[in-house]
Amino acid sequence: MDLHLTGRTALVTGASQGIGNGTAKILAAEGCRVAVLARREDLLEKLADEIEATGAERPAVIVQDVTHQGAPEAIRDQVYDALGNLDILINSAGGSRPVPWDAGDDVWYEGMTLNFEMLRRLTMAFIPGMREQKFGRVINLTGSSEPRGVNVANSAKAAVHAWAKGLSREVGGDGVTINSLPPGRINSEQILNKVHPDPAEREAFAKANIPAGYFGEPEDMAYLITFLASPLARYINGEVIHVDGGMRRFAF
Ligand SMILES: NC(=O)c1ccc[n+]([C@@H]2O[C@H](COP(=O)([O-])OP(=O)(O)OC[C@H]3O[C@@H](n4cnc5c(N)ncnc54)[C@H](OP(=O)(O)O)[C@@H]3O)[C@@H](O)[C@H]2O)c1
Repeated sequence: MDLHLTGRTALVTGASQGIGNGTAKILAAEGCRVAVLARREDLLEKLADEIEATGAERPAVIVQDVTHQGAPEAIRDQVYDALGNLDILINSAGGSRPVPWDAGDDVWYEGMTLNFEMLRRLTMAFIPGMREQKFGRVINLTGSSEPRGVNVANSAKAAVHAWAKGLSREVGGDGVTINSLPPGRINSEQILNKVHPDPAEREAFAKANIPAGYFGEPEDMAYLITFLASPLARYINGEVIHVDGGMRRFAF
């Protein structure tokens, strides 16, 4: 299937690792001109080398902490300088860690800023341009709405779902869609190093909780992300689509 992505411009945040990394590669393979963003420059340059080696255009590398004051505008300016416009925004920068139920305000502020507030602000930096050009795709990597305990990211990702739904209704008439994808367990830095560091525990968790029986790979997210980024997905808007090997237990 031709996804009609050749020449489309895309920014992938959180591209130094995991889902963002895998997504940048597949968007580039489909012909997108890509900008990749994270804090670790060496990993972004390695990704750029890998993409260039496939014969695709070398991605623009943007080294930026998304939580810094003024980051959304600085990122927008760098993207417009490098790519000229932005058709596709993949919001993959984020992170989750369980916190004590009575964690302090500073912990909540940090987690909400990374996983909701800066994602919202970065998106808003690009929405006017997308509306004007009558095409835009925003895809948010979010997370489970089944908290196992208190986790700031759960609340932040739920906020993304509610905000994205509202925004989708405002901008849909201009050819802009915004969708959210909660991953289940996808092999990535945070999953392998922090959430499930023990391989035996990982295997037991997968057998007990995931009908597929194993953790997914970044590509398992990236193929759907790439379809949603394409003009072919014009009628899918404001959705929350779980990609989790069947792990989620609720029908709706
Ligand atoms: N993997 C899963 O199973 C899973 C499950 C639920 C939700 N998610 C969500 O899916 C998204 C991607 O997850 P992942 O597992 O692929 O993550 P990952 O491998 O841990 O990578 C996180 C990415 O975000 C970037 N990042 C983190 N903080 C940043 C900051 N302040 N500024 C700029 N970049 C920042 C990291 O790059 P640098 O460190 O180089 O900045 C890295 O590229 C996240 O939002 C995560 O919460 C993933």
